[in-house]
Amino acid sequence: MDNNINLMNKIREAAEMLGRHCTYTPETGIILGSGLGKMVDAIENQIVIPYGEIPYFRTSTAVGHKGNLIFGTLDGKNVVAMQGRFHYYEGYTMQEVTFPVRVMSMLGVKRLLVSNAAGGINTTFSVGDLMIITDHISFMPNPLIGPNLEQMGTRFPDMTNVYSRILRKTAHDKAAQLGVTLKEGVYVAETGPTYETPAEYKMYGLLGGDAVGMSTVPEVIVARHCGMEIFGMSVITNCAKDLGEECQNDGDEVVQVADKAADTMTEIFKALV
Ligand code: HPA
Repeated sequence: MDNNINLMNKIREAAEMLGRHCTYTPETGIILGSGLGKMVDAIENQIVIPYGEIPYFRTSTAVGHKGNLIFGTLDGKNVVAMQGRFHYYEGYTMQEVTFPVRVMSMLGVKRLLVSNAAGGINTTFSVGDLMIITDHISFMPNPLIGPNLEQMGTRFPDMTNVYSRILRKTAHDKAAQLGVTLKEGVYVAETGPTYETPAEYKMYGLLGGDAVGMSTVPEVIVARHCGMEIFGMSVITNCAKDLGEECQNDGDEVVQVADKAADTMTEIFKALV
């Protein structure tokens, strides 16, 4: 229980500090994954706060992750965006990885748009595709393990229809206007930092996964716990490898492919705020 009081105090302290920089309520929170940080160029009236200045925020060490919290307007709507996230593989606890989502909730965020780079498992996917997340399978520790933060949500959150149907439909409609076809699928979350072996890619496919990555699900679970409306999107930056293939997965290539997809994703996120 003491731990919970501490955690609530930390969330409050971070939110209070941020409230001194930003006087309005950001209705929508955005988390920008690997290589997708340039989406912040579309945010106007920016207030940029480096993670290092926010109480209890960690720093982003991952490739393609900048480490700023940005308040501003996207298509005229108030947002707060994480330019870079914290991953479990960086050695942070699940509480640290998901801390920013809880702070967003305390700031009044009601809707979370999450993005990531992911490996395609579904054989109909190509590098550069955008996939709307319809559901997930998690092989990561659950961030809600431990005493429940009653002030934030229930002990046993429901996990059906986590990814908003309405937001998914809006994203498809916007993509159609742009002349882009979006894929849809189940995101498999694992800890990383290793990419998958060919046998693991195959196993995830057999289990019903369409793409695999090392993030997103912890933040989504905590956002669900706080009662947020959620939308998730993956850029397919590489495809599942077979044992016989010569080429290998590479972090820099993942970031480059994601960077190219960022403009389309920005247009879709604008339609969702
Ligand atoms: N596996 C896990 N995480 C990833 C991948 C992948 O193939 N590509 C980008 N992030």
